Amino acid sequence: MSTASGRRFEGKTILITGAGSGIGRAAAMRFAGEGAQVVIADYNGTAADETAQLAAQRGLGAAVATVRGDVSVEADNVAMVDLAVARFGRLDFAFLNAGVGGAFGPIAETSVEDWDYTFHVLVRGVFLGAKHCSQAIRRHGQGGALVATASIAGLAGGAGSHAYSAAKAAVVSLTRSLAVELAEYRIRVNSVAPGTIMTPLLHRGRPEKIQSVLPPQPWPDHGEPENIAAVAAFLCSDDAAFITGETIVADGGRIAQGIALFGTGAGNVLMQRPGVNRGSTGEPSELRNTGR
Ligand SMILES: NC(=O)c1ccc[n+]([C@@H]2O[C@H](COP(=O)([O-])OP(=O)(O)OC[C@H]3O[C@@H](n4cnc5c(N)ncnc54)[C@H](O)[C@@H]3O)[C@@H](O)[C@H]2O)c1
Repeated sequence: MSTASGRRFEGKTILITGAGSGIGRAAAMRFAGEGAQVVIADYNGTAADETAQLAAQRGLGAAVATVRGDVSVEADNVAMVDLAVARFGRLDFAFLNAGVGGAFGPIAETSVEDWDYTFHVLVRGVFLGAKHCSQAIRRHGQGGALVATASIAGLAGGAGSHAYSAAKAAVVSLTRSLAVELAEYRIRVNSVAPGTIMTPLLHRGRPEKIQSVLPPQPWPDHGEPENIAAVAAFLCSDDAAFITGETIVADGGRIAQGIALFGTGAGNVLMQRPGVNRGSTGEPSELRNTGR
């Protein structure tokens, strides 16, 4: 897979939260590879430093800075933005991506503390990031872009993930409201909604284990962090100049597959016996035997 499209972010600065791992780390590499100055922000300071070391190994170290911070704490967001401006002179983009799985399980067993923790990281984090990054972008008057990481969990249902799903749905909603407000400053606001992506959040260090328990998706390859980094880069680029308020799904066809009423893959009954159903018209229906 291609990892860069030239140096289209030369002279631009991006703040990436959750850049110590997974999607955020892949995005840091992608943006730095395309010429951006990158602030690597993460709650896990050691992980943030490892991302910076990786960038240095790839010859991109001069263009990165790291900061330890909690996206749910306002003062930390201010410090992240201040660092970006102090170190690189300006802020153009933010990828508000930090996340955790948060509370899961039956609602009767969901504590208020775990619910609040989920919303603090996933929703308050995006709110505070957008609040402070947009002000820094407005200061230079040349516009920019905010991209948040939502999830297909926020677009669909499913028992056990009520807190995470509701939080990600809030990210989709925030994206729309902020896009409208910030358009006059030429700040575009979009989200990416990943499907299942092979990151430590999903596989907990055992990618081979998780693949056997995931429900099948239409696309044959599993999702990689670089797939989502590519969408974030597109959304910050001039190629997305007229896109704002949008959530782009990158899920290998999971949402398209929907409830899979007729089965998936080779088990899809409609695919096995094609034909036409003429319902209650009195006209005969047909089933064609294709020898499958
Ligand atoms: N992996 C998937 O399948 C998947 C699917 C849909 C959405 N997402 C979303 O993608 C985003 C990135 O997740 P990932 O899969 O790369 O996970 P990851 O665990 O690999 O990386 C997440 C990073 O966020 C950091 N972080 C957590 N809480 C933080 C906080 N309060 N402040 C600052 N940093 C914090 C972690 O330290 C970690 O480095 C998350 O928002 C997640 O919800 C992931």
